[in-house]
Amino acid sequence: MKRKVLFVCLGNICRSPAAEAVFKGIVKQKGEASIYEIDSAGTSDYHAGDPADARMNLHAKKRGYVLTSISRPFNPNRDFDYFDIIVAMDDDNLFNLKQMSRNKSDVKKLYRMTDFSSTGKYSSVPDPYYGGSQGFELVIDILEEAGEGLYQHLNSTL
Ligand code: 4NP
Repeated sequence: MKRKVLFVCLGNICRSPAAEAVFKGIVKQKGEASIYEIDSAGTSDYHAGDPADARMNLHAKKRGYVLTSISRPFNPNRDFDYFDIIVAMDDDNLFNLKQMSRNKSDVKKLYRMTDFSSTGKYSSVPDPYYGGSQGFELVIDILEEAGEGLYQHLNSTL
């Protein structure tokens, strides 16, 4: 059985597509890409059908990541059953996911990305949409660091 990981933000055009690409890079580097299925979604449908934000793409590309995802809204009836773990970028995303949950087993799948960070410096992956380039760089910094923690967590629990 593959390990199925879903990253979730608001628009699914900045943070969660970047999380998807960074985590795919981590498992590839570990030689374990074939045992993972990694996807992303948004709590909103504002950007459904859109590719990743051009600014997020640019900053990701500078670090060697290619963002391939097309925005889609989170689908409670499919995604809660299909994925083993659902990782929200911030507390708003987590709150909205909890609102959509149907039972305790759904809620048990929910985490914050920063739950897996060992620095304790950030409690969310801050929304970069209305800010400048530093915000996009910070998103990738946090995703790379917390992504390693997520990988270790999955190795010890799944
Ligand atoms: P994301 O960023 O949740 O990281 O994809 C955002 C994208 C779009 C909007 C807000 C945040 N928006 O308001 O349209």
